[in-house]
Amino acid sequence: MRVPFLAANWKMNMGRQAARELVQGLMETCAQVEGREMAICPPFHLLADIEKLVEGRPQVYLGAQDMYWQDSGAFTGEISAPMLLDVGCRVVIIGHSERRAMFGETDETCAKKVAAAVKHQLIPILCVGESLEEREQGLTEKVVTSQLHGALDGLEISDGRQLIIAYEPIWAIGTGKTDTPQAANETMQTLRQTLAQIFNEEIAQGVRLLYGGSVKPENIAGFMATSDIDGALVGGASLKPSFAQIVNY
Ligand code: PGA
Repeated sequence: MRVPFLAANWKMNMGRQAARELVQGLMETCAQVEGREMAICPPFHLLADIEKLVEGRPQVYLGAQDMYWQDSGAFTGEISAPMLLDVGCRVVIIGHSERRAMFGETDETCAKKVAAAVKHQLIPILCVGESLEEREQGLTEKVVTSQLHGALDGLEISDGRQLIIAYEPIWAIGTGKTDTPQAANETMQTLRQTLAQIFNEEIAQGVRLLYGGSVKPENIAGFMATSDIDGALVGGASLKPSFAQIVNY
């Protein structure tokens, strides 16, 4: 019932020409795949170009990497949900660990952003994950559960498809190290139980849970073979044509 979701997080990479070539190629190599969905989350300056390239393909979602919770006003440097909708976005990454670590993102700001996205019918991809130190202290479940409560308590949704969660152990992002599919799946089960407490069991069963952290064509199948991992949020490996192999796992 949960359609696999493979999302590309380009971070602060790519120019217009390279982006066009990459997306054109991906549309040929993977946009026709049945029974799964993909997302491309480029930097803001590429959204309008990519919107044209993915137009008419409902299984390909255009996404942003962040947004502000107000609709408009004197917020220099920010972008809003209505603006992202205007350029064709359907998803938005919220609370990526790089934003939490470098740009002051907190559970409180994530909560406001998630609520604003949902209000405007943008699907938030809320990111959670523990640091290496927390992992070594056996705090993974505690950290991710508290991040979920912090960003989602009080949120009203009626369907699990309105929300996506990405579990990204921070020590696995961009390092070439990955969690094992078994360990990641256990964390996903904890996340799903927490979602059932916050919302209800039916909604929790519909929310897609993505694994992120050094996902590559060689390791995606192992994650997708588990019971509770429904997709991936991919950084480095999404900048190459071989991202198609991840979508076509
Ligand atoms: P990575 O990044 O695939 O390069 O590890 C994942 C992410 O930060 O979303």
